[in-house]
Amino acid sequence: MKTILIVNGPNLSMLGKRDPKHYGRGTLKDLENACVNKGIELGVKVECFQSESESAIIRKLHMSMGRIDGIVMNAGAYTHYSIAIRDAIELIKIPVMEVHLSDIHNREDFRNTSVIESVCKKQFCGMGVKGYLLAMEELVENYFSDDPEETSSETDPLSEERAAINEIDREMLVLFQRRMKHSERIAKIKAQSGTATYVPGREQEILDAAEKAVEESYGNYAREFMQEILRLSKERQKEIREEK
Ligand code: DQA
Repeated sequence: MKTILIVNGPNLSMLGKRDPKHYGRGTLKDLENACVNKGIELGVKVECFQSESESAIIRKLHMSMGRIDGIVMNAGAYTHYSIAIRDAIELIKIPVMEVHLSDIHNREDFRNTSVIESVCKKQFCGMGVKGYLLAMEELVENYFSDDPEETSSETDPLSEERAAINEIDREMLVLFQRRMKHSERIAKIKAQSGTATYVPGREQEILDAAEKAVEESYGNYAREFMQEILRLSKERQKEIREEK
């Protein structure tokens, strides 16, 4: 099954709170739900991504290579000046549709220019959420070949799921390492100050938060997962104490 990635750039997380004259009253969740439903109608998988950060958007575009078949991109204000996003779109060789909720050609002058337009297949603007849906239709109709030989991510569903898990694992391990480093620093601070600043109830708080952060059916698993991470952190902190 083909996959479309919906990318929303800075400030689009605030839809619902932005000027309704340009952006309507719906939230980002409403917009993403509409895209997911359109995906079901078109028979494609839809992934949604939003970030306020240029580098995160660029990384997401890089990581799409080989696994995403088409992108619908509202780069927000980056549209008007981010050559870095422009270059990323050019290099990934995935068809990208440029979308804007508002009509950027009938607003302030600085919104008239899109530096990404020349590397995108088509620009949709001034149509609100409908623009995203039309962009998705256009991708499917004109850019998704039926010939499996020609497509990059037309693999069997198991390999697709495994590739997605591999990507998540990579991201998770980066976060795991960051967490371990903070634990190490805490151990060092405690060792230097000589005071064991044990915060009662902290562990319980972390476990409760883990349980609440996920869908109900994963609650117990998330708790166990965090319990194991806490155990590993404590083990590393003990090692550090013993090194001293
Ligand atoms: C926008 C238009 C941009 O000029 C603006 O900075 C946005 C949203 C739109 O969807 O209309 O944040 O891309």
